[in-house]
Amino acid sequence: MTTPETTGRAVQFEVFGGPEVLRVRDVPVPQAGPGQLRVRVAAAGLNPMDWFMTTDAETAARFGLSLPCGFGTDYSGVVDQVGEGVSAYAVGDRVFGGVLSRAVADYVVVDEAGTIAVGGEAHRTPSGVDDRTAATLAIAGRTAAAAVAVVKPGPGDTVLVGGDRVRELAPAGVTAVMDLHGTDTAQTARELGVPDERITTIAAQVDGITPANGANAPYAALDEIAGLVAAGKLRVPIAAGYPVDQIRTAVELQAGRHVQGKIVIDL
Ligand SMILES: NC(=O)c1ccc[n+]([C@@H]2O[C@H](COP(=O)([O-])OP(=O)(O)OC[C@H]3O[C@@H](n4cnc5c(N)ncnc54)[C@H](OP(=O)(O)O)[C@@H]3O)[C@@H](O)[C@H]2O)c1
Repeated sequence: MTTPETTGRAVQFEVFGGPEVLRVRDVPVPQAGPGQLRVRVAAAGLNPMDWFMTTDAETAARFGLSLPCGFGTDYSGVVDQVGEGVSAYAVGDRVFGGVLSRAVADYVVVDEAGTIAVGGEAHRTPSGVDDRTAATLAIAGRTAAAAVAVVKPGPGDTVLVGGDRVRELAPAGVTAVMDLHGTDTAQTARELGVPDERITTIAAQVDGITPANGANAPYAALDEIAGLVAAGKLRVPIAAGYPVDQIRTAVELQAGRHVQGKIVIDL
């Protein structure tokens, strides 16, 4: 019989700043309360919002965070404890999801029926989806679902998803547009004659254009996306993986804003 662990590693910061403020700490293993599950995290995926909140007190406050604070939101792993009243999950289940600014840790406690921002959320990891890939899906998957819900692409559409060289790639023009970086692509879309209701942004707002917010995507969107990965219909490129003690290097790479694919932390 193995003795249960009483402490686990968690990335935390106690002052706002760049990657240098991130520390790997030994913290007490959290316990699953009623309606909660505890996950032994296998991998955590990074997103720009993670370090926006680390750098900027105002952004952190907007998300209800205060110091000292954990780090990272996307996670995957295995349920290792369930609280009273949990019916949808059991010890040993593979899960993934989002838990705001707590994900880069050996253990996270997540609500059975929460949201990423409040209590955290869990989804079953389909067989055929590895832990690193599952750890990239929560924020990016929800945001993709929200963007698709705004512009509603369908047969016959030519959809511009960010980027340049649009006239070369689509000489017949584009009919729907997702700006994934700022507002330039959205403005270009207007110049190309795309109507506002077929344009969305994820990183900035433009008057008259509906922004896509991952938080508004339905819970089921992530299960659908994980199913597409499991079926081999969607591939998520992993740009790099790092052990948790190299968290600062990983965040520096992410903050460069030119990474091609997702960055994951192995736990
Ligand atoms: N609304 C939401 O719910 C939501 C959710 C997730 C993310 N976001 C926001 O969306 C933005 C993108 O996030 P991300 O996860 O994709 O990470 P990211 O690190 O911001 O994006 C990296 C990608 O952006 C491209 N890029 C860099 N500079 C660019 C430019 N000037 N014009 C067009 N593309 C450029 C890079 O391609 P190249 O190297 O080829 O330039 C790279 O592929 C961030 O601002 C993030 O905060 C919003």
